[in-house]
Parts: sequence; structure tokens; C-alpha cells
Amino acid sequence: MNNQDNNAIHTRLDTATQIIREAGALGLSYFRQLATLDIETKSNGQDVVSIADQKVEKLLRERVSAAYPDDDFLGEEYGLNEGSSGFTWVVDPIDGTSCFIHGQRSWCVAIALVHAARTVAGLIYDPNADELFSAIEGEGARLNGEPISVDLHTDLEHGLTSIGANYRVEPHLISGFIHELLQTGGMFVRSGSGALSLAHVACGRLAAYYEPHMNAWDCIAAQCIIREAGGWTNDFFAEGSLTDGAPVIGCAPQLREPILALISKVAGATS
Ligand code: IPD
Ligand code: CA
Ligand code: CA
Repeated sequence: MNNQDNNAIHTRLDTATQIIREAGALGLSYFRQLATLDIETKSNGQDVVSIADQKVEKLLRERVSAAYPDDDFLGEEYGLNEGSSGFTWVVDPIDGTSCFIHGQRSWCVAIALVHAARTVAGLIYDPNADELFSAIEGEGARLNGEPISVDLHTDLEHGLTSIGANYRVEPHLISGFIHELLQTGGMFVRSGSGALSLAHVACGRLAAYYEPHMNAWDCIAAQCIIREAGGWTNDFFAEGSLTDGAPVIGCAPQLREPILALISKVAGATS
């Protein structure tokens, strides 16, 4: 990466840091008035959108296009706006919508910056905890400005493994994985926000995260943060794409082989 690209990433991260806090505050204002929130079903009861998701994405789109009119912008709710700069903002205005609409605090705002098919920066903001996770490729990961690391001493038996599930994935892939994890003496949790769970892998609260399929806006920001925190992730762009999604793994590096072994046992049992 040349100096010009590096400066371009830094200036965008500065912008993203400001606007993700503004977006989180807007989301929080809706969260505090849940009783009056408009909610629509998209394809089923697990695939819903609230006025908060829409307004937060609109705010992010407006702020990004005012600052960087030539950048691409891909958001969950309103799709892709194409630009010409070579930078793409990939945004989930609210990750954890099901939690959000049921009054659970497990939700966040996610922003990734993609350049030349790589995630070069990622931000996850949890407004309820006022926690901002951030990373630039090659420069380490931070939580509210302080360096963070994955848990380099944990294993499957002692750490928490987080699972994600959605209606696009065959249930047996989830139940099979949980079965194999329990067989090894592991523990599972599911928070309902994949992006926030992945961020919690980056700071060592969780040992690992696995979901058989996610969209880019759900995961690539936090996967970048995990890698910069010394963790391992699968290669989202090698296994999928910005538009089609991919399987998602993020973990402490010593858990790479154990997690892959559990996943292949499930695949072996069902093939
Ligand atoms: C969902 C959450 C959930 C994950 C799903 C995602 P949304 O995103 O991250 O934890 O399991 O795959 O679609 O719909 O709340 O933005
Ligand atoms: Ca999401
Ligand atoms: Ca969302």
C-alpha cells in the first residue's frame, strides 16, 4: 500500500469514528422509545427491519457521501451506491435487530472500509456500553483507543464459543456444531449480534465465533479487528463475496485447528 492510500484510509477512519458515534446515539434514541418503534417484516419473523435501522443507515449514507462522494457505499437496508475512488464502505446500521426490537442490549453499528478486495479498516460501536472497537490493517486493534488482544491462553474447554444462526442456514449445521462442541467439553453462547460477538473475540471476552453464513456487513469489520488483535479469521473474500456472503470464523489463533475440526466433523456427519 502506498502513502497516498494509507493517508486515505486514516482520514476515512477519522470520519468513520465520528459518524459511528453519531449513528449509535441515533440508534440509542430509538431504543429508548421501543414501544413506539415501527417494525416491518422483510422475509420472515427473523428478518425484520425497524425505522431505527433505516434512519441510522440514511444518516451514515448522508455523512459518508458528503465527505467522500466518490466512494462506494454498501448498506444492509438500501444496497449499493457505486463510486469511482476504489474505496467501499460496508455498513450494518444495526447488527442485532432482533435483540434491539425485543429490548435486549446486544446490538451495535458496524462499518468496514474495503479497498482492493481487502478490509483495510473496521469499526464496531456498542452504544449501550459506549465501547468503540477499531482497527486499521497492519496497525493493531483498539477498544476506546486502548490496544486489545484476543485471549492467547484460552482453549475450547475453558473459553466461551459464540455461535450465530439465521434462517438461511440448515438447522443441523448449528445443532451439529453445538453437539460437537459440547462433546469436547466446550461452552456455547449466542448473543444475537454477530458483529458485537466477533468484536468480543477481539478483546478476549469470547474465545471464538462461528456462523455458517453471514453477509459482509455483519462480519468483515469485526473480522479485521480480530486479525489486528492477533486472532485468526477465515478469508471472507476467498470463500464468498461482498454480495453473496460467506461462512464466518473468528478466534484466538490457537483455536483455529480445533474449531475447523469441529466444523469438518459436522460436514462429515451430514455429507
Ligand atoms: C444478524 C445478527 C445475528 C446473526 C445473523 C445476522 P441483523 O444481523 O448478526 O447475530 O446470527 O446472521 O443476519 O439482521 O441483526 O443485522
Ligand atoms: Ca447484521
Ligand atoms: Ca442489520
